[in-house]
Amino acid sequence: MTIDNKTVLVAGASTGVGRETALMFAADGAEVIAVARSEDKLASLKAGAGDNIRVIAGDLTDPGFTDRLIAEAGAVDILVNLAGRTAHAPFLDANPDMWRGAWELNVHALLVLSQGIARGMAARRSGHIINISSVLARQVYPLTTFYAATKHATAAVTRGMRIELAEYGIRVTEIAPGLLDTELMDQAEHPAVVAAYAKRQNARLPAAEVARAIIYAAGTAAGTAPELIALNPHGQI
Ligand SMILES: NC(=O)c1ccc[n+]([C@@H]2O[C@H](COP(=O)([O-])OP(=O)(O)OC[C@H]3O[C@@H](n4cnc5c(N)ncnc54)[C@H](OP(=O)(O)O)[C@@H]3O)[C@@H](O)[C@H]2O)c1
Repeated sequence: MTIDNKTVLVAGASTGVGRETALMFAADGAEVIAVARSEDKLASLKAGAGDNIRVIAGDLTDPGFTDRLIAEAGAVDILVNLAGRTAHAPFLDANPDMWRGAWELNVHALLVLSQGIARGMAARRSGHIINISSVLARQVYPLTTFYAATKHATAAVTRGMRIELAEYGIRVTEIAPGLLDTELMDQAEHPAVVAAYAKRQNARLPAAEVARAIIYAAGTAAGTAPELIALNPHGQI
């Protein structure tokens, strides 16, 4: 598959893996729709990449925004679902509102956006959905109980989409990274989580490595697609 002239919607494009992914697709000639809440970060992304990037800013947990996004995006060839947040805390001390927020973004918002975009792909009998889960889609580490649950769910819905959407010509891929060098873990507030991650010795994956895996998956031959690409930094188990 060539990426040139494909329309790629990157959900969660303002920082981290999403930003790298948007830049790489744009450099390869794709028309990128970059989505996140932070208008200033999206504006600087566009300033660095030019006309190949269109920005649509909003909150993916807001159903009104998602409806508008699906309508404004038009025909999307590749959807990359990257928007995510953590929910790390000791189980006994966790705030259930944090659990709800992580579920709404990591799972519910991914489902709603994917459904809306996949309906257009199904009508055109072509498309590729790439969902970013985590090493925690298959493992649970201390302090990660609920975040890991959202990522196990991401793996499950990715598998379900792959099975159900194949007959419409839609390819579906899961990318499962280990610990990254992004801002995501800066959200951690609980002292036990901050201390545990400060002590971790293993390397962190560069965001660009995960972006490269996404570009690879998108470029595989029509009629095939990697089901799962798992990437860990050296030393992570
Ligand atoms: N970091 C890790 O160690 C790690 C490991 C494995 C998997 N992952 C997964 O990889 C994906 C990318 O993470 P990352 O490390 O690149 O994190 P990141 O830099 O924090 O990126 C998260 C992206 O999601 C966007 N986002 C957050 N809430 C949103 C909302 N309500 N509506 C729209 N956009 C929203 C953020 O932009 P705004 O804040 O501007 O909205 C940002 O663009 C996530 O799904 C994460 O769970 C991360």
